[in-house]
Amino acid sequence: MMVDIDVMIKAEEVNKEYRREGAIIRALIDINLEIKEGKFVIIQGPTACGKSTLLNVLSGLDLPDSGKVILDGENISRSTEDRLARIRRRKIGFVFQDFNLINNLTAIENVESALWPTVLRNKEVENRAIAALRDVDLLERKDHFPVQMSGGEKQRVAIARAIVHRPRVILADEPTGNLDPDSETMIMNLLKKLNKDYDTTMIIVSHRDLSKWCDQLIKMDKGRIISIK
Ligand SMILES: Nc1ncnc2c1ncn2[C@@H]1O[C@H](COP(=O)(O)OP(=O)(O)OP(=O)(O)O)[C@@H](O)[C@H]1O
Ligand SMILES: [Mg+2]
Repeated sequence: MMVDIDVMIKAEEVNKEYRREGAIIRALIDINLEIKEGKFVIIQGPTACGKSTLLNVLSGLDLPDSGKVILDGENISRSTEDRLARIRRRKIGFVFQDFNLINNLTAIENVESALWPTVLRNKEVENRAIAALRDVDLLERKDHFPVQMSGGEKQRVAIARAIVHRPRVILADEPTGNLDPDSETMIMNLLKKLNKDYDTTMIIVSHRDLSKWCDQLIKMDKGRIISIK
C-alpha cells in the first residue's frame, strides 16, 4: 500500500449519527478529506452542521459509525482505547471554546497538567511549561489563577497547555468564539506563528469567517462537506 507521508489526517467515507428521542440525527455524512502536514486549515459552517462532531472524530475522542480516520499513517478508528489515549497524548493538542482551564490551578500548573502523570522530573515539567508559556507570550502571568485573567489570556494559557507536549496537530473548536475581535486577531496570529515555527498542523473549527488566515478552507453544511478550497 502507498502511504502519503505528508498527509497528517485523512477521513474516508466517515459517517456518524446520533439518536435522540427516537429521531436519528445524521451529524456526519460521507465525509472525505485530506489534510497535509503543516497546513493551517479552517473548517467553517453554521451551528449544528457537525463541526465539533468532526473534530472529535478526527482526534479519536469519538469513533465514527462507519468509515475511517487515518492520523499520521495510522487507522485510529480501529485502535483500542489505550492505544488511542497514547496517540492523543503524543500527537494531538486540543483547544476548546471555553478554555477548559482548572480554576484552582495557576497558569503554569494548568500547562503542566497536560504532562501529568509523567516520568519526567519536576524541574523538566516546569521547564517545558515555561517554554510553552513563553511561546504564547504569557510567562509573566505564570502564577496567576484563571479568574485573574482576561478571556484572551485564558485562551493563551489553554494554547500553552495544548502545545506543551509538542504535538504534531492542534485541533481547536471555536477557539475565538468567546473573545472580542482584538483578542480573536491575537489568538489567530498566535496559532499562525505556532504553525510556522513548529510546523504544527492546525485544524480550526468556527462558524465565523476566518478564511483570511488559512491555507485550506473546508465548508460544511448539514453534516456534509460542501466545498474544499
Ligand atoms: N451527544 C449527542 N447526542 C445527540 N445529538 C448530538 C450529540 N452531539 C451532537 N448532536 C447533534 O449533532 C448535530 C451536530 O452537532 P455538532 O455539535 O457537531 O455541531 P456544530 O457544528 O459543532 O455546532 P455549533 O456551531 O453550535 O457548535 C447537531 O444536530 C447536534 O444537535
Ligand atoms: Mg460545535
